[in-house]
Order: sequence, then C-alpha cells, then structure tokens
Amino acid sequence: SKTMVEKTLKVLRTRRFHVLALPSETQSATLASGSTPTTTSTTTANQSKKQTKEKFGKKDKSTVTNTTKTAQRGGIVVMSEEAAILKYLSTHEVIEDSHPWSESQKLDHKAVVGAVKSLQVDAYVQTEDLSFSYYTLSDEAKTILTNGSQEVLVLKAIEKAEGGSLSMPELQTAVGKNIAKIGMGNCMKQKWIKKDGGNLVSVVSSNDVQDSVQEGLQAVQAASGNVSAVNDTVIAGLKRRKLVSLATRKSLKISKGPNYALTRVKKAADLTKEMLESGAWKTTPFKSYNFLTLGEKVGGGYLHPLLKVRAEFRKILMQMGFQEMPTNKWVESSFWNFDSLFQPQSHPARDAHDTFFIKEPRETISVPEDYYERVKTMHEKGGAGSIGYRYDFQRHEAFKNLLRTHTTAISSQMLYKLATQEGGFQPARYFSIDRVFRNETMDATHLCEFHQVEGLVADYDLSLGDLIGTIETFFKKIGIEKLRFKPAFNPYTEPSMEVFGYHPILKKWTEIGNSGIFRPEMLAPMGLPENVRVIAWGLSLERPTMIKYKIDNIRDLFGHKVEMARTRTAPVCRF
Ligand code: PHE
Repeated sequence: SKTMVEKTLKVLRTRRFHVLALPSETQSATLASGSTPTTTSTTTANQSKKQTKEKFGKKDKSTVTNTTKTAQRGGIVVMSEEAAILKYLSTHEVIEDSHPWSESQKLDHKAVVGAVKSLQVDAYVQTEDLSFSYYTLSDEAKTILTNGSQEVLVLKAIEKAEGGSLSMPELQTAVGKNIAKIGMGNCMKQKWIKKDGGNLVSVVSSNDVQDSVQEGLQAVQAASGNVSAVNDTVIAGLKRRKLVSLATRKSLKISKGPNYALTRVKKAADLTKEMLESGAWKTTPFKSYNFLTLGEKVGGGYLHPLLKVRAEFRKILMQMGFQEMPTNKWVESSFWNFDSLFQPQSHPARDAHDTFFIKEPRETISVPEDYYERVKTMHEKGGAGSIGYRYDFQRHEAFKNLLRTHTTAISSQMLYKLATQEGGFQPARYFSIDRVFRNETMDATHLCEFHQVEGLVADYDLSLGDLIGTIETFFKKIGIEKLRFKPAFNPYTEPSMEVFGYHPILKKWTEIGNSGIFRPEMLAPMGLPENVRVIAWGLSLERPTMIKYKIDNIRDLFGHKVEMARTRTAPVCRF
C-alpha cells in the first residue's frame, strides 16, 4: 500500500542520511555532468568548487559553471567537458596534460578538472598530478616588448635631440619621468651616455647597441615561459628587474579508469518513492556506502560538565522517588531564606559579609501573614516545647531581599505548601539542584556562587536511622560507598550531621555534605501534623563534578574562564 511504501522509504531515508553527506559524494553531485545536486547544501557545493579553484589556478577569475551535457558557447553547441574527456579517451590512451589539452579542445581548464574529479569518483578515469613551472611577464615587461627597454629609449631620445644633448628635465618631458629615471641609470652603467656639464650626451650610437632586455623578454615569450628554454643569466637579469616571475600551474595526466565507458551512467544516491512504485529500484545502480567516512561533526547543544553531573544526579533522585522542587528564582526574602528556618535574625550568616542583599527592590512585597505571625511568635516566645530566642522579631529584617544562600529556602516553602495544601499533609520526597550565592572570598575551590543538591523526605515518625539510610542509598548511587557521620550544628536541624566520604584515590575522609532532621520550631508554625518528621541533606554539585572530571581549580569548571571546547570533549557522566 501507499503508506507502506512511504514508511519503508522513511526508514531507508533515515539510513541513507549519513551516506548522502559523504564528502566524495557531495563533490560528485556538485560537479558531475548532467546532475542537479538536490541533496547537496549550497555551502558544500561552494566549498568543493572553491577547493578545486584554489588548487588549479587562483588567478583565473572565471568559475566552473558549465557542467551540463551540452552548452551554448558563442552561438555554437559544444560538448560538455565530461563528454569530451570520455570521447577523447575512447580513441587515445591518455591525456598527457589537461592544460594544453583543454586549450586545444577550447575548454575551460578548471571546468575540465572539475569534470575529471567527478569522473574519478566513479572510477571512469584515473589521474596523476602534474605541476608545471613557467615564467610570466610583468606589465612593465609587456611594455618593453613593444617599445624597447628604458635605456634604449633614453639613448634614442638623446640622439634625436637638437645638438645630441638633453638636460634631465628635458629628458623627462621627452620619455616620461619613470623611463628617464630607470633608462638614464642603465645607460650610465653601460657607458652609453655621459654627463657634459649639466646635460646628457650619447657616447655610442643606438644602431650599435643591443637591447638585450627586450631580446631576453622575447625569448621568454617565444618559449611560452618554459623554464628550461631560456638562458639562466638572462633570466636572472630579468628577475632582478622584476620583469619576470616564476609561476606554477597544476594540471592532470588523465587515463581510463577501471569503470571507463563512453558515457557515464549516473548512480542513484537516493531511493525514491517512484522507484519503489515502478520497481525500477531492482535495476537501478546505486552509489555504494562509504563506511570509512567519519560524517559531519554535530555542532551545538552540549551540556556543561556541571550540568552533565546534574542530569545524572537528577536521574538518580527521580529513581529514588524524589520530585524536583521549583527553584527557578534566585532572589528570596530573608523571611524564607532565614526566618522560616528558625535562624535568628542576629545570626552571623545574615551579615552582609556572607549574604548578598538586594538594593532594588530592597524588600519583598508580601509573606503569608498568618504564617509570618506564627514564625515571629516562635522566634520571640517559642512553642512546640521550645522557649524561642527571646528577642524582638523585626519585620524589616524579615522583608529584606537577598540572593538565596541555600536552596533550603525553597524546601521551606515546599513544606509550608505541603502543610497547607487542600486535603491536608501527604508524605513527600523532594529534591532540587540549583544555584546559590554566598559572599565569599574567591579562591581555587570557592566562588561567590555554586550549586546545591538538596533532598528531603517528609513523612510520619521518621528517625535518624531513616536519614542515615537515605543518605547512604543516595551516595552509594553516586559511587561513594564508605560514609561517616559527625555531629554538627545547623539552626534549622536537630540533630545535625556532617557527612564524610572516603576518597579512595586521596585515601582520606573528606566532608561531602550536611544533613539533619528539621526542628519542630521550623515545622510547627507551618502547621505540619505533630508526628511528621522531615529529614534532609545537602551537598554541592561542584565538589563531585571536580572529582569526577579531575578538575582542581573551580575556575576551570565555572565562570568566564571556562574553556568552551571542554563542553564538547567532556565525556558523559556516569556514576
Ligand atoms: N542548607 C544547608 C547548607 O547550606 C544544607 C542542609 C540542607 C543541611 C538540609 C541540612 C538539611 O549547607
């Protein structure tokens, strides 16, 4: 059926996709006689044209345009380059040199080379590279050929003058400034003329001197620039006066290839719907696959090493049943970043030395007012078994905007949502991996911004064992097997534990994360049921990435000094 055909075609097209991009095939599609390069992009076509052009005669400005079977040239119908080459080879063993041959056939040499390259791809012909050195004449040399050398012109001008004598200005008017200058110098050197007071007079007659420069140039021209045909000293003299220069011409020796035939059968590059429908595909010759080609480099769309690790962590956390939190905002209020986490307003971390506060807008617009009141009360007076911090809670302090110092600011908003959502609290597992900011002194391992990986589980009656177990599962999945926990302090967790991992290469225990059980002072104002516990942990994304990719300076990983090529060469991350 028609859809079947179209489906098959689609599969085949996909399979052939790379084949169509072969450099050799593109070239043949571009340059081959009688072909319309439908599958070739303009750039590639231009490129191969350009390459041919550069190799075979840069100076010639004409372009390879005539590749059709026959063409109108000056009113007469002539054979295409391809047809001419194949026809010639049917009666001759070889085209010794493509350049004179093209001239004799009145064909453009570059077009011939293009046709040969295309025929070569299908092995209709084979070639040998030829290189021919020859002398070319400068414009000045061409003038000398017709008028004679400057020295002869000067000598003649002096002879012709009244009294056989000319002043320098008179000579200049007679022959022109340039000729006067060069010619006078050379005449003096050859002792053809001499100074007589302020004037120039001749010493010899122009009939007795030889214009060796003009003769030398004539010899070069007669030999068509052939390097070996002209006397070396003559050439040296002409070169010194910059009248000739050596040029090289590249051309080809062409003979029959293994597939030679008088006319070329174009092999199909693509299987078409029509071929399938008519059955022509059974007999059509197809271009063969080139399994040696590397294919085009795929550009764009690379993940930064940091993001590769993030993608891997995200996958692991999703497999563990964690949902991603919406962390797509960097500016937070102090209320969510600190107060909701039961971090006292006088805590040193709130100092501008550690936190970037926002100048404009300086304050947040709103916070949930009833929850705000409960947080304020918790800080001032306590509750849920706590005595609180016993200070005056400042609204303007809570409202101050900042660049979030940790993603726990989002965790706390998510927990507040969980507590207040319709239908009441439901157990949940959340994670986030996103950017945080701290006003730190920058060095090889610290920047003002980094990425935090954070996970939390909210459920009834969770214990420290659950926290340790969850952390162990996570770290095992990212390849860290040996863990140790050390008591620590966070304003919002109790108990709190620093996580240490054993680094098998460094052979030492290093701190890799922080964790804890959120305090009742944090959870109670949100309205979470009394026996709901929330266990959480956090780590930086940079640390494992640097270890994974063996980067020892964080500036090589993040920021404007990062080498862009790295994003292309860094392998996919697997833990
Ligand atoms: N917010 C902590 C930090 O910045 C990490 C953490 C998250 C600690 C959750 C305990 C619980 O390091």
